[in-house]
Amino acid sequence: MKIAIACDHGGFELKETVTAHLKSRGCGVTDLGTHGTDSVDYPQYAMAVVREVLEERADRGILICGSGIGMCMTANRVPGVRAIMASEPYAAKMGRRHNNSNILCLGGRFIGPGLALEIVDTWLQEPFEGGRHQRRLDLMEELARGFAS
Ligand code: RB5
Repeated sequence: MKIAIACDHGGFELKETVTAHLKSRGCGVTDLGTHGTDSVDYPQYAMAVVREVLEERADRGILICGSGIGMCMTANRVPGVRAIMASEPYAAKMGRRHNNSNILCLGGRFIGPGLALEIVDTWLQEPFEGGRHQRRLDLMEELARGFAS
């Protein structure tokens, strides 16, 4: 699986840990930065990963900021993105099974590396159940189009 990953300064340390883990699992990883702890603006990094996923250069994306919240809000502005924020594995599991999430957001200041990797592994392996859940995702996109300008 090909994963695009990015972070801001609040997620840099955890991004390094997650990237190494993904590579050790045999995933292809595109690391879109940031590459240090200098303060940066998370929307730029969120949209870089969104682009990789929507243009199908990556199968899925992972975004890490201090809380995971700003990354998740930004990514979900774009139609076709189904980003979830997970601070424990059950959210990752259900976010795949029921919501077919294509982007996982983590909070580098919320969770430690051990828990983060458990969340990532769960999210990578859980399948989408389809069926009624696909109908709801289709409805989500359709209703959102009613607000487009
Ligand atoms: C940066 O201080 C912080 O606001 C950012 O990492 C993130 O938590 C935003 O949602």
